[in-house]
Amino acid sequence: MEKYIIKGGKKLSGEVVISGAKNAVVAILPAVILSDEPCVIENIPGISDVTITLQIMSEMGAKIRMINKTTVEIDPRGLMNLPIPYDKAKRMRATTYFLGTLLGRFHSAHVSMPGGCNLGDRPIDQHLKCFAALGTTCELEGGMIHLSADRLIGNQIFFDKNSVGATINGIMAAVKAEGLTIIENAAKEPHVVDLANCLNSMGADIIGAGTDVIKIRGVKSLHGTTYSVIPDQIEAGTYMAVAAATKGDILIKNVIPKHLEPITNKLLKIGVKVEQFDDAVRVVGGEGYVGTSIKTHPHPGFPTDMQPQLSAVLACANGTSMITESIFDNRFRYVDELRRMGANISVEGRVAVIEGVERLKGAPMRATDLRAGAALIVAALGAEGTSEIYDIFHIERGYENMEIKLKALGADIEKIDEPEEPGEESRKAI
Ligand code: EPU
Repeated sequence: MEKYIIKGGKKLSGEVVISGAKNAVVAILPAVILSDEPCVIENIPGISDVTITLQIMSEMGAKIRMINKTTVEIDPRGLMNLPIPYDKAKRMRATTYFLGTLLGRFHSAHVSMPGGCNLGDRPIDQHLKCFAALGTTCELEGGMIHLSADRLIGNQIFFDKNSVGATINGIMAAVKAEGLTIIENAAKEPHVVDLANCLNSMGADIIGAGTDVIKIRGVKSLHGTTYSVIPDQIEAGTYMAVAAATKGDILIKNVIPKHLEPITNKLLKIGVKVEQFDDAVRVVGGEGYVGTSIKTHPHPGFPTDMQPQLSAVLACANGTSMITESIFDNRFRYVDELRRMGANISVEGRVAVIEGVERLKGAPMRATDLRAGAALIVAALGAEGTSEIYDIFHIERGYENMEIKLKALGADIEKIDEPEEPGEESRKAI
């Protein structure tokens, strides 16, 4: 079992280069299954979600060749429509994307329900509603979702809930369907746009990605492409939070500053300096931040995936901050861990109230999910004394070489491997 040991209190400074976006790549890699030719995907991050996705595709018969550390060539021609059982599906939520892409290619798919989630209830009713609208029969048996369609026929779909996953799955299923599919109340996140751009570079006809209404005119086939994944908005935002919490000065490179605006605006509001360049932001922290209110919203609102990291910064801001989580019903599990460091945070339902304290003190803590883990790192780096962070496999799902990147900025962080306690393995379902 690996853990991080962090000695906090150092001002971090220097440059960090952001990797490709997790939430884009976990859609783009399965989307290659829709192509009739090999595809080259560049700027893929070295994270465990990518390893798992490529492993699943390889076991199904796709030929995977790493051209270098960030570029993969995938030949999906020999891929067989094998079921994806629970032991694979439980490892990451994004295995649901195999539903849309296998349905699009084979007109059937057999994928286990992804299982419980650390953020609370995460139904996939909107995904299934979309598949059904395209002419698919959906059956659930023994925890497996079975989809089958004689023909996929375009339709108009209105999502009752603004959902990234359902929008992505809808696009994948519709891209080779007959006729026109119109998705209304679509998610507008940068990774939705990136997936659509990638599919268009393969010959798809998708317009409107990034707006509420996406129109997909089905095409008969898709060809190969070479496509570079966008930089990770949330990894970049996390390093912005690191600069703020450590009162540091960090130039964050390979970013799309527009994607960071909701984060930038909050940091500016509390007293952090942020300078924007074409493809970089410089974040300079200091003393005496002021508390603020944050409410998470779908893009272009403040991203739920940055809520824990910003709370870690606000734990030491002057006065009261109020954090309202409007996407997930259980995204404050990190609060108990921050309390161990001396944070004064109370949670009532989907609202957390933070009374800023002068400083946090290092403590042993457990990452309960990916962004919760990132928040603990932010807090530990800014705190006095030593923290130990357990269950870092959550963090490695979405952050490439985090300890190496932080060390290069001057952090005192070590990754230690400890023998596993009995029963630890069962906790690793993600
Ligand atoms: N929802 C439904 N029915 C559905 C689908 C979603 O009720 O069929 C609800 C969810 O329960 C949630 C809300 O709609 O309350 C939004 O869920 P969404 O489908 O947008 O989330 P997701 O696709 O499961 C992606 C990201 C998450 C990110 C959310 C919100 C990926 C692989 N995951 O999840 O990323 O928090 O969108 O932006 O793209 C993370 O990176 O740490 C992470 C959790």
